Amino acid sequence: MGYALKETEFRYRAWTKEGKWQLGELTTDKYVKIHEGSNVFHYGQALFEGLKAYRTKEGNIQLFRPELNFERINAGLDRLVAPRLNRELFFDAITKVVEANIDDIPDYGTGKSLYIRPYVIGHGMNLGVKPSDEYMFSVFCAPVGTYFAGGLQALEFVSTDFDRAATNGTGQVKVAGNYAASLYPRQLAKDQGYAGVIYLDPSTHTKIDEVGAANFFAITNDNVVVTPKSSSILPSITRRSILYIAEHILGMKVEERDCFIEGLDEFKEAGACGTAAIITPIKAITHKGKRHQFGNGDVGPTIKKLYDTLVGIYYGDIEAPEGWMHTVL
Ligand code: PLP
Ligand code: COI
Repeated sequence: MGYALKETEFRYRAWTKEGKWQLGELTTDKYVKIHEGSNVFHYGQALFEGLKAYRTKEGNIQLFRPELNFERINAGLDRLVAPRLNRELFFDAITKVVEANIDDIPDYGTGKSLYIRPYVIGHGMNLGVKPSDEYMFSVFCAPVGTYFAGGLQALEFVSTDFDRAATNGTGQVKVAGNYAASLYPRQLAKDQGYAGVIYLDPSTHTKIDEVGAANFFAITNDNVVVTPKSSSILPSITRRSILYIAEHILGMKVEERDCFIEGLDEFKEAGACGTAAIITPIKAITHKGKRHQFGNGDVGPTIKKLYDTLVGIYYGDIEAPEGWMHTVL
């Protein structure tokens, strides 16, 4: 089951009819029966999202910035030449799945949450390479803990010569093919005992792009929060939120710019961030056999502050900026 702590009972399915989305419904059927000639099996016309529901101290259930997942899934659908989802369908699906699986939402104080996985696939017999005529949108969920390791613990990462996405490819959208391309470099890194992979910019391989399933950020020696600017990385909702927190709550300077893999000395702390990764501190990056450690290798004070603020917002312990939290129940 990988990252999932258990399977939940209810999922939501919606289908297009003559290419137009229809509202869907909840089902307990875990299996999808579609034609063997479907695009999703051969040409990778598939994409997904990831967001979480959190239980607050008062017992409410809230989602973190789901509007941004809605925007991003539609950006991905445009890139895959698939029909956009409307807001009613997206939120109907998420709300119903969260409500139906409410007993599987981890308790406040456990550090766990309910991971929600919306996805769209192109289906129907289609042997030539062209967009599908019909699509399915589904949402399922699972309770989860942390993605990389238990708690706030600094981990070892390694750079790779492989690319997960091309300079003007599909890195900015959450399409399935990006993840297929990442499996081999991930395996090599795991076999060598690393927690994950650092991808470099595909054109020059001199700048950090992102981590396999998370974005990269770092704190300079003079306390600026820096994150790479690149056309081949996913615009992480967590990264955008961290930059906002750093600037508007912690009063720090923030920059989106190049982060050279040979210039890591300018940083005293580094981290990987994402819905699943939350904030995972990076202890060291090994590049071409040379290990660069950030600070003394422990969780740095700025990363700790960013983590506490972000997680406080997730669980409703810290007031969120206007419009961030979406209360389901
Ligand atoms: N980059 C990649 C490749 C990812 O798969 C993810 C996970 O969603 C992220 C970054 C982090 O994005 P977000 O913070 O929106 O979850
Ligand atoms: C996420 O953080 O939502 C991801 O997509 C990462 C991973 C589980 C693929």
